[in-house]
Amino acid sequence: MLASLGCGNPTALAELRQGETVLDLGSGGGIDVLLSARRVGPSGKAYGLDMTDDMLALARENQRKAGANNVEFLKGEIEHIPLLDNSVDVIISNCVINLSADKDRVLREAFRVLKPGGRFAASDVVTRGAIPEALRRDMLLWVGCIAGALDENDYRLKLAVAGFEAIGVEPTRVYKVNDAREFLSGKGVDVDAIAPLVDGKFMSAFVRAKKPGQNAMEKAAAFCEPTCCGA
Ligand SMILES: C[S@@+](CC[C@H](N)C(=O)[O-])C[C@H]1O[C@@H](n2cnc3c(N)ncnc32)[C@H](O)[C@@H]1O
Repeated sequence: MLASLGCGNPTALAELRQGETVLDLGSGGGIDVLLSARRVGPSGKAYGLDMTDDMLALARENQRKAGANNVEFLKGEIEHIPLLDNSVDVIISNCVINLSADKDRVLREAFRVLKPGGRFAASDVVTRGAIPEALRRDMLLWVGCIAGALDENDYRLKLAVAGFEAIGVEPTRVYKVNDAREFLSGKGVDVDAIAPLVDGKFMSAFVRAKKPGQNAMEKAAAFCEPTCCGA
């Protein structure tokens, strides 16, 4: 539990199978990687990717304590995934993509490393409905991880632009006025004025999508060649 800083449980929702290769984007203390490693078994592999030395050290210590051999923690950024194209069956991520300043790049990278037919299964913070820009900016100062959240429809759109299909965004917890009070209190802001404005607009969600299968990818490539996609 101490190793978890997430906002959901993507390993429970991702339906991992024995023998699969899983990649956790922003693996932190490694809890979701270790849970995934158990689910994919000794014939599978679980990678964690994180950019912070402290978190990698904690994750490797947790791996040692768990005695997990089918696990590897990689140093790097989720915007530049240090793995080959078409090498991963499932990408999971727990409360990290909302932190990235370049979500399009993260989703393009996720698409690149997934095998055809591979699954994307992330827990993330998303927003619903209009949020005044000034309020969003202020939220960045008060609670950084919430302010970077995408609107649920923009998330769907970005996944589609990256090439994904079967896209779904399912709320797992909608933050209400009292949650907002909890986040904002002690931050030097007028909680009574702000809390009602953010009521019901921020939520933890399970975001799922699929990379099209081999046939669909081949058809798309044939359709694009030789010049119409501007490559
Ligand atoms: C909120 S914590 C979540 C950790 C973990 N997923 C969990 O559920 O406990 C965010 C983690 O993502 C990492 N992180 C944030 N932005 C990143 C990026 N652009 N590339 C790689 N790691 C990143 C941080 O170092 C941190 O370990």
